[in-house]
Amino acid sequence: MRLTRRYRFSASHRLHSELLSDAENDRIYGKCNNPFGHGHDYLLEVSVRGRLDPDTGRIVDLGMLDDLVAREVIARLEHRNLTEEVEAFRTSVATTENLALEIQRLLRASWDRTFGVQAPALDRIRIEETKRNYIELV
Ligand code: NI
Repeated sequence: MRLTRRYRFSASHRLHSELLSDAENDRIYGKCNNPFGHGHDYLLEVSVRGRLDPDTGRIVDLGMLDDLVAREVIARLEHRNLTEEVEAFRTSVATTENLALEIQRLLRASWDRTFGVQAPALDRIRIEETKRNYIELV
């Protein structure tokens, strides 16, 4: 059984790779390469797979999941300039792809400690940057 929980946060970024020339950055990222950055209202979905607990009728403690996401993800990213303020994006471009990987890393780092030995599995992360594109890690 799989449960998906939705979260929202807002953040800004600039898509710019130090490994590319200015012309290449402009060609690949277009207006997202604007030096002053721009913002997004991100929609994050965290999917959890687990066995139904007969005592609670649930597969995961939603309060624990919400606390984990709030503490490890939202608190670190909400209203931040991802490119300037988030350590992970000093060495990688703050694309939706890399943001999904960073969120996965943050959740995995505290997952077992949060849920203990009966931990449900972190099954999928989906992050929507705009209405037109999203990234899924499965
Ligand atoms: Ni953008």
